[in-house]
Amino acid sequence: MNTSINPNDIRDIVEADRMHLWHHLVQHRMFETVDPRVIVEGRGMRVWDATGKEHLDAVSGGVWTVNVGYGRESIADAVRDQLVRMNYFANSAGSIPGSLFARKLIEKMPGMSRVYYSNSGSEANEKVFKMVRQIAHRKHDGRKYKILFRERDYHGTTIAALSAGGQPQRAAQYGPMTPGFVEVPHCLEYRDQYGGTENYGEAAADAIEQVILREGPDTIGAICLEPITAGGGVITPPKGYWEKVQDICKRHDILIHIDEVVCGVGRTGAWFGYQNYGIEPDFVTMAKGVASGYAAISCTVTTEAVFDLFKDDANDPLSYFRDISTFGGCAAGPAAALENMRIIEDEDLLDNTNAMGERLMNNLRTLMEKHKVIGDVRGKGLFCGAELVVDRATKEPVEEKKVQEVVADCMAQGVIIGATNRSLPGFNNTLCLSPALIATESDIDAISNAIDGALDRVFG
Ligand SMILES: Cc1ncc(COP(=O)(O)O)c(C=O)c1O
Repeated sequence: MNTSINPNDIRDIVEADRMHLWHHLVQHRMFETVDPRVIVEGRGMRVWDATGKEHLDAVSGGVWTVNVGYGRESIADAVRDQLVRMNYFANSAGSIPGSLFARKLIEKMPGMSRVYYSNSGSEANEKVFKMVRQIAHRKHDGRKYKILFRERDYHGTTIAALSAGGQPQRAAQYGPMTPGFVEVPHCLEYRDQYGGTENYGEAAADAIEQVILREGPDTIGAICLEPITAGGGVITPPKGYWEKVQDICKRHDILIHIDEVVCGVGRTGAWFGYQNYGIEPDFVTMAKGVASGYAAISCTVTTEAVFDLFKDDANDPLSYFRDISTFGGCAAGPAAALENMRIIEDEDLLDNTNAMGERLMNNLRTLMEKHKVIGDVRGKGLFCGAELVVDRATKEPVEEKKVQEVVADCMAQGVIIGATNRSLPGFNNTLCLSPALIATESDIDAISNAIDGALDRVFG
């Protein structure tokens, strides 16, 4: 077997991929007849594949990650400088970029206080699950151990994170799931479950309280929610929802865990998605945009009150958070994250996100006038979705296959868009857009023009 790869020979690379790589989220049978896609270069909003084809990336690296765009030499330099000075030491000790980024991050998160590093969104969420369970053991005789999660939300790929996931197709065939996670209903007003009530946001929050009362408030330690549901269909919260959810949690002594893995670090036009809705969380988790994919880093951020619960008895050998993430000690992550945040500040990317997000939403609304197949458009900042339906009156979802044809048509035009996929049986019908926060007016228009053309061709 030839194991040496000549990097100058792209056929060789593609062949090595075909023979040995196991791609994420992909059924591989198709690679018997078509080449796997290999992305070789990126600059700004654009990436080039192994055939030399240029693509405008409307999903920031496929999964809403590269918030500051590709080819940022200053991040690469910051990482390089850090690696040659000090690449790694277990996070039981501190590091210079670890301290500096923690302080900078907390400056953006009034009310929050402590940063725990690990290296994926799933892992950041698992830390919270462990903290909540440990709090239950230490403060509530083990009773308040259950964690609520919401239909359609996603919190990661590990078994416990999947157990906290509201997307049945992601969890199917990976059971049995971890006990102690309890589902509450989604809050998508377009798919109203409460018979056209005027106050949908409150009704959706009340539905959470009904689950709490059914399970017993003294058994529930926390609720884990995305501020805006991402892969479950870009679900922006209805009016009045978060106020009521917070009120319910306060009354029942339930901690609030906000999963900012997608929304965090600018995506919604605020530093954090929860800040759009006046939420006061106990835990915030983040990953993707923290270093825009230039290094692997995730953060579990808590209040000082939560942190205090883990240091109250120094004589008890079990009274602290007995957890380690080996690569949570990689100094490249916070070094990249610091520079990533500087770029967002110095280039006013939050303002740009708000302005370009508004343009994208307006473009999608205009497309809605022309294409009856668009049933609903939703979004905040550069985080938008368009739900496709067979019929606006019945809201029957378009088949996933058709939605994927739209994605493929855009790809053929050189524009990469996303869609809910293999997540929600019968409801994988939302196109998803999350361009980098550097998008210009012409990028935004190119994205909506591509969708316009694709909808023409796929639906006539
Ligand atoms: C909201 C949300 N939380 C958590 C995760 C898991 O993050 P990771 O893939 O880094 O483990 C994802 C991934 O898409 C996500 O969308």
